[in-house]
Amino acid sequence: MSERETWATRAGFILAAVGSAVGLGNIWQFPFKTAQFGGASFLLVYLIAALGIGIPAMLAEFVIGRKTNLNTIDAFEKLGYRNWRIVGAIGLATGFWILSYYSVVGGWVLRYIGGSITGAYFSDPAAYFGQVSAGPEALALHAVFMALVVGIVALGIEDGIEKATKLMVPSVVVMLVGLAAFAFTLPGASEGYAYFLSPDFGALAANFTEIVPFAVGQAFFSLSLGMGAMITYASYIDGDESLFADSVTIVVLNSFVGILAGLVVLPLLFAQGIDPNTSGAGAVFVSVATAFAELPAGQVLGFVFFVVVLIAALSSAISLLEVVVSWAVDNTSYSRPVIATGLGGVIFALGIPSAWDTAWLTWFDNLAYQLLLPLSVLGILVFAGWVFGRPALGELLKGSDFGDGVGLTWLWTARTVVIVAVVGTLLLGLQTLFV
Ligand code: PFF
Ligand code: NA
Repeated sequence: MSERETWATRAGFILAAVGSAVGLGNIWQFPFKTAQFGGASFLLVYLIAALGIGIPAMLAEFVIGRKTNLNTIDAFEKLGYRNWRIVGAIGLATGFWILSYYSVVGGWVLRYIGGSITGAYFSDPAAYFGQVSAGPEALALHAVFMALVVGIVALGIEDGIEKATKLMVPSVVVMLVGLAAFAFTLPGASEGYAYFLSPDFGALAANFTEIVPFAVGQAFFSLSLGMGAMITYASYIDGDESLFADSVTIVVLNSFVGILAGLVVLPLLFAQGIDPNTSGAGAVFVSVATAFAELPAGQVLGFVFFVVVLIAALSSAISLLEVVVSWAVDNTSYSRPVIATGLGGVIFALGIPSAWDTAWLTWFDNLAYQLLLPLSVLGILVFAGWVFGRPALGELLKGSDFGDGVGLTWLWTARTVVIVAVVGTLLLGLQTLFV
């Protein structure tokens, strides 16, 4: 077998991980949920979840990946715990599952880039979404999106993923800042900001038991945890660096992009008097498209906006394809391009029901959110905290400028509070799935 690939630089790794984290979760979900669940007060809960629970879970994945330099299944065996490969396998399956429908939504985004150029959604945004979100057209664009993902992953870690995300992540930030600056000039901007950011502790208190597990689940999804992605990306790290500093950077940038997206979307909606109180991926597409349809420079703005969303979605999707590709590269003698194409094809096929009918997409998403993700994160935490334990701590401290205190805090948080929070999230999720 040829030598395993690595990131060329530490910044390359961080940007790839940020690219994985920053995706549809930030631009679609985050602004709307924040606005509905109490604005700044929800933001606070989310930030506590992301920092207090997301960081320890991310560190657990980083430690497993960097220590072994192996894919998310074989890593467990190399550490001496063959039976725990099941945890890696659940993560890998979760990533596979999520990518199948994420790619369908990626196809919608492609469609909306085209629709902005031609103005196709301008006359009736709701009817337009109905036409393009399901059926043959959605299927074709799901294929195109998946082909783009395969193309990047086929090029490998340094020449494909690292080079691509080095370009993509800064572009997303720059374009979002530009859009936010424009949104600032709109007449409804201050109303939009108020709706997004004014703290509504009443709304938070009234729904606290629902919001906390949601904030935790959203933190996992948003940070790409429990899908094998962070284990896999960390497995390409060559040498020691402070994983703690890396994870803080990733979490901060991910939250920053979510807030930035809110500063774009909510003023846009308020300027046009559109109710942001929507639920479901589709409703979000419709409301944003309606705003563009009514704005003077809507065609250009819509184009830029959907290009941003596309780039964010692509840089996330490549991380999930890489999880399975990495496993196959480590275990078979096929070339990376052949593997990427073959596995991309299988994931495309799994996404066919979601492309055909959005009800399937919702079902796939619910199962991932409520069951697969928390289960997978729980397995990783129990493994890293209790099974692997002290050696995990040793790996974390390698290359770190932080004292043992930070490491011990990580170990004990991961072993206790974080596990309790994940179990709670899992139970509440199961309840919504099956009760
Ligand atoms: N962190 C991603 C997001 O917030 O959109 C979640 C994700 C979904 C990553 C799907 C990768 C992926 F293919
Ligand atoms: Na995210």
